[in-house]
Amino acid sequence: MSIVYNEKKKTFSLHTARTTYQLKIGNLNYVKHLYYGATIHDEDLIYLIRRYDRGFSGNPYDSLKERTFSLDAQPQEFTTQQQGDFRINSIEVQNGDGSFSFDGRYVSHKICKGPFTLKGLPTPFAREEDTVDTLELTIEDAVTKVRVTLLYTVFEEADIIMRAARVHNGGAKTIALKRIMSMNMDFMNGRDLDLISLPGRYGQERQVERQSLTHHVHKIRSGRGISSHQQNPFIALAERNAGEDYGSCYGFALMYSGSFLAEAELDQYDQARLVMGINDRLFSWDVAPGEDFDTPAVLMTYTHKGLTRMSQNYHNFFRTNMNRSKFVRDVRRPVLINTWEAAFFSFDDVKLVEIARAAKDMGVEMIVMDDGWFGKRDDDNSGLGDWYVNEKKIRCGLTELVRQINDMDMKFGIWFEPEMVSEDSNLFRAHPDWVMEIPGRHAVRSRNQLVLDVGRKEVQDYLIQSVNRILDSANIYYVKWDINRAITDLWSNVLPAERQGEVFHRYVLGLYRVMDGIIKTHPDVMFEGCAGGGGRFDPAMLTYFVQYWSSDNTRPLDNLKLHYGSSFLYPVCSMGAHVSEASPMVPLETKAAIAMCGTFGYELDATKLSREQIETCAEMSRLYHKYYDLNFFGDYYRLSNPFEQVNLVAWETVAKDRKEALVTVITVNLTMNGPQEYIKCKGLAPDTLYHLEGGGSDLVVSGMALMHAGIPVPREIPEFTAFLYHLKALEDQ
Ligand code: DGJ
Repeated sequence: MSIVYNEKKKTFSLHTARTTYQLKIGNLNYVKHLYYGATIHDEDLIYLIRRYDRGFSGNPYDSLKERTFSLDAQPQEFTTQQQGDFRINSIEVQNGDGSFSFDGRYVSHKICKGPFTLKGLPTPFAREEDTVDTLELTIEDAVTKVRVTLLYTVFEEADIIMRAARVHNGGAKTIALKRIMSMNMDFMNGRDLDLISLPGRYGQERQVERQSLTHHVHKIRSGRGISSHQQNPFIALAERNAGEDYGSCYGFALMYSGSFLAEAELDQYDQARLVMGINDRLFSWDVAPGEDFDTPAVLMTYTHKGLTRMSQNYHNFFRTNMNRSKFVRDVRRPVLINTWEAAFFSFDDVKLVEIARAAKDMGVEMIVMDDGWFGKRDDDNSGLGDWYVNEKKIRCGLTELVRQINDMDMKFGIWFEPEMVSEDSNLFRAHPDWVMEIPGRHAVRSRNQLVLDVGRKEVQDYLIQSVNRILDSANIYYVKWDINRAITDLWSNVLPAERQGEVFHRYVLGLYRVMDGIIKTHPDVMFEGCAGGGGRFDPAMLTYFVQYWSSDNTRPLDNLKLHYGSSFLYPVCSMGAHVSEASPMVPLETKAAIAMCGTFGYELDATKLSREQIETCAEMSRLYHKYYDLNFFGDYYRLSNPFEQVNLVAWETVAKDRKEALVTVITVNLTMNGPQEYIKCKGLAPDTLYHLEGGGSDLVVSGMALMHAGIPVPREIPEFTAFLYHLKALEDQ
């Protein structure tokens, strides 16, 4: 059992393979946070908490004039409201009598096998071989009878602890949740913590920022209705001196695809507090007597071995416990070519067949028909919502087109943007009230399209039915599910005025229901997510999509940063990456090497390539398959930081048994007659001899030498050259 309750000490110790998390039912039945870090035994760590008379920090009434007990200074598992704790809080509830108080005290707990699940929200699953236990600990406000159950699931081997909160209204009046975080985490000493986040913008998603915690509230958030290009629902808190290979690092990843919030505060006593959950901006949720509200889950991990190990913990977990699709492990994902940058909206069935025929010689195994095949859709001003084939473009019909592609021994994929509608569409003409538009106002247009009120059941049913009808009409192997705008004009025509604050979250719940109804009912179809690139690339989405289109930016050098930033949380096998015509000065081989730090594919007009280019692509597609297992399932190491002034950008994937590795090096800045550059490997077996091939080398070198002395990278070569160094343990040759 990974969760130990010490009845005498009233401590709960949650043990993963290498970490311990401890909480305790403390004075006055407040639940205290005692520890999260490297493994300790079940001893009671209450000795860490010292109490002082803290001026201007109030004391709960029943502490009976005991002035040293203030919630303003105590580490807690979940906060109260209006009980003298002035730091950022986990809950803001307006009670039936209009007051804003919540004084949650321990009432009960339960420890059970397996992970918790949440109503309407995705959570990871446990495999047979996993040791997984759950603690459900309930606190209650004695006056209002509002209960919050704190949920903790320990995925022992993975070093992952999942948290969420469930609110139950046990009182007689409806309450309004104004803010309800999935977790609260207090650090007794936050002075030396850095906050790492993944900010960005359209075309430049998931860049990396690191800042010291200072005495104010740091907010990482999206208020765009989608998890967004601008921030990702992930943060790490790392010791100031932590690097890739050493130092304490805490990761927090929220499984939510809508507006989210992470707040971190260094308090007056240099303690740190972190909360994470649904963004409270424009949020309010009524909970009637007897009803529950579930928050989304947060996946936490800890390591004292640096940022690489933190990322690998997530990579391993995301590859095994998030998505049951056969395309995660059992069935190889084909090399694809996508028509978007090749043809945009200008294609027909003949053009598609021509592209597929030319691409076949490039080693491509699947063609994806992107935007423009449906309704009246010749540009981005019309057609969204009309999910039936445009027979002016696909004259032979979809079934026949797919047959022709399949006859070439290629697979067929298709694009949808289910959540959106164009005003110039039959769907909008039939159901103008299905869009989010506030009565008496005109909704903001973005890419000239409007957002469907996906929180409504009839909208969900329409989407499930119309997308499934297409999927069932032909032999479709793959779907790209896109969304191309943020959400504004929060409004639902089916909710009363006082419940409009629920619209954002209802949208997300509705979306998950639609995805359940389409994705989970088509286990043989491979689904890729997309949001104008990577604008909704988040952990929850990976329970549906085996991969996510990283960015509309296919410039290879920009992708070095994008992949680096994404790799803090996401594994290589989840990052959609293509070779395109962007950046003509970069050789095709280099573009392909960079796209192999992702799911690999092409995004160009194959009919326009020269014979030589086709042959280069064929070789690159062959390498994608050769290194598939290493890249998709190996341990990933960042060997350089592309945000720094570097001459080389490098990364490495190492097989789990350490018998094989691939080191990719891209030369980004080689000055004339400059110094010799070396790349040091990581994660190899020190005493193993490896056969090193690539970059003109054909040598036998020990793991020790490769890690501590490195590989010399050739000089006097053109810039933007890529080297793929393949290492194979000698006994395995
Ligand atoms: C945005 C996506 O990121 C592109 O790849 C493409 O599918 C377009 N949308 C189509 O509208």
